[in-house]
Amino acid sequence: MTTRLRTPRALPAVGAILLVCAGCTHVPGVPSASADVARPDKQLDFHVLYKQNCSGCHGDNGRGGAAIPLNNPAYLAIAGGDNLRTVTAKGMRSTMMPAFAASSGGMLTEQQVDAVVQGILREWSRPSDFSHVALPPYSDPTPGNPTNGQIAYSTACARCHGTDGIGVHSSAGNAPPPQDSTPNSIVDTSYLALVNDQSLRSLVVAGHPDANAPDWRSYISGRALTSQEITDIVAWLAQHRAQQSISIPPENPSSVAAPSIRPRRTDDQRQ
Ligand code: HEC
Ligand code: HEC
Repeated sequence: MTTRLRTPRALPAVGAILLVCAGCTHVPGVPSASADVARPDKQLDFHVLYKQNCSGCHGDNGRGGAAIPLNNPAYLAIAGGDNLRTVTAKGMRSTMMPAFAASSGGMLTEQQVDAVVQGILREWSRPSDFSHVALPPYSDPTPGNPTNGQIAYSTACARCHGTDGIGVHSSAGNAPPPQDSTPNSIVDTSYLALVNDQSLRSLVVAGHPDANAPDWRSYISGRALTSQEITDIVAWLAQHRAQQSISIPPENPSSVAAPSIRPRRTDDQRQ
């Protein structure tokens, strides 16, 4: 059952009373809409809405949070208003990104969702910077090829994330201690469990503006990553999710190549 109440403080029982009394003008103890002072669903100021609903995860100014930076013109050019709106309204499956539209069980009205999305585009996008740039598609529904993805990963990503994706300890190229899981690991279960394939694609495409790897054009010197390479790299990353999280033996074990090559868990080594 999905709850469609706007505020988490509202108890289901209150909802039931309101339903039963749909025609009543006043329910004792329940504030009526007209009596509300400064109803939160009247708030349409982008900065207020962003601070209240988004900054905790996406960072105060759209940067520096745990979730993908939204203050990133490359990401915004590729995602576009429609995708931004869909994700903001409906949330993102298999991630911590909540649904915000009341119609999806969230706490914002449709107008507030629009105000947030328009505000993000107005404040943080720079469409003219990308008007002559060939943009990779936001999503790619075709399955990638993890083998090719590993090759592309080695060229584009390994210098910062290590040969296996577990991270490197120094940029000087010293051999990282084997089986260590640094905070940078992008292949461990706990990280991959919190991101879905689309969000991995967005992270790769949009790059790390604060980490000297601005976007998909800058990982390899001289050329941009192709959409196929991005798809394949995501498939390679996603393969680690499957390998690590499935504990039931597959139907045809002979089709799985040596699952024990990779250490199953490295939690005990993490700080
Ligand atoms: C509880 C934490 C949390 C909050 C609050 C939150 N987000 Fe997110 N958001 C995430 C996570 C996690 C992801 C997906 C993983 C990633 O990309 O980091 C995500 C993804 C997104 C994406 C999609 C990225 C893509 O791949 O295209 C958009 C757009 C977005 N959030 C917008 C918002 C907006 C707007 C708000 C406020 C109205 C908001 N988020 C609030 C955690 C959050
Ligand atoms: C110049 C170094 C550099 C390159 C090249 C690079 N990364 Fe990163 N990456 C980082 C740093 C530093 C972080 C963590 C800080 C940040 O997110 O800005 C990071 C974060 C990430 C994350 C998010 C991890 C998290 O905990 O949220 C993913 C996924 C990722 N990188 C994938 C890739 C892939 C795939 C490539 C190749 C296409 C790549 N990176 C290339 C430096 C790099």
